[in-house]
Amino acid sequence: MNVKRDQQYTSPPSLLTETIPIIDLSDPNDELVTHKLVKASEEWGVFQVVNHGIPVYLMQQLRELGRQFFELPESEKESVTRPADSQDIEGYFTKNPKHLKAWNDHLIHNLWPPSSINYRYWPKNPVDYRKVTEEYTRNVTKLTDKILGYLSKGLGLRREALKEGLGGDKILYLMRINYYPPSDSVIGAPAHADLCALTLIISNEVPGLQVFKGDHWFDVEYISSAIVVLISDQIMRMSNGRYKSVLHRSVMNKEKTRMSWPVLIEPDHDLVVGPLPDLTGEENPPKFESLAFEDYVHRKLNKLLRD
Ligand code: OGA
Ligand code: NI
Repeated sequence: MNVKRDQQYTSPPSLLTETIPIIDLSDPNDELVTHKLVKASEEWGVFQVVNHGIPVYLMQQLRELGRQFFELPESEKESVTRPADSQDIEGYFTKNPKHLKAWNDHLIHNLWPPSSINYRYWPKNPVDYRKVTEEYTRNVTKLTDKILGYLSKGLGLRREALKEGLGGDKILYLMRINYYPPSDSVIGAPAHADLCALTLIISNEVPGLQVFKGDHWFDVEYISSAIVVLISDQIMRMSNGRYKSVLHRSVMNKEKTRMSWPVLIEPDHDLVVGPLPDLTGEENPPKFESLAFEDYVHRKLNKLLRD
């Protein structure tokens, strides 16, 4: 979807009586937590989690190291630049802003599983980058398991069902760091839904992430200790449409640099993903075609999808 430059980026506050759910994962009432997560995933496709088990100091270190990397001179960042002829999506990428409709400075590299990691694309400067990112990875994979467990239970399935349906230990985790310098003329990320299964985001203190619900764009409130969870396309497809893949975008700030760290959680690339068999039947026909994840990506990027 194209976003026009003159489109209003904020909705009139008087209309925003609803807010994006904030869910406390330390609540011992498991049924209640499941219920809240399920409701948020059905109605919004997005929620924030607090007391999620990832130490706040670690989130702060990750932010600080990402900032230090992006503030290095271009010549130093080149050590992890994606080669121009590369088919990979990993690496540092920047583009002359004159040619841009949307801002697009980012670094992408795999986090997990170990066999997928190419350290060539992990910054060596700042020196703690690898250590901190590895610690964040251990935490983020654990949190993902927990969230997938709740979402599975909410579908009436075993806790492991969604994880297994995404490839189990072969689930791929990617780090993407977005860097949006001050601007009042371009959008950061145009409206889109993520192709992966689930997206777990932290950002710096500059707000800019917005999600679409009903007929409004809603600002995602910045909470320093929270993780923003987006339901993305594959969870929507596996749940046969019960969970919603949320349309979102990121707007730039006129004065301040915004940064965000989405972790993208993807199925094993040649695994066929579609509505889980336990959720479909005569009365509940599949709403989506089952496709290998890589074919889904190809079709969506080339706009060939039928569902
Ligand atoms: C993305 C994305 C949101 C943000 O990278 O897919 O939606 O807050 N980013 O930058
Ligand atoms: Ni996104």
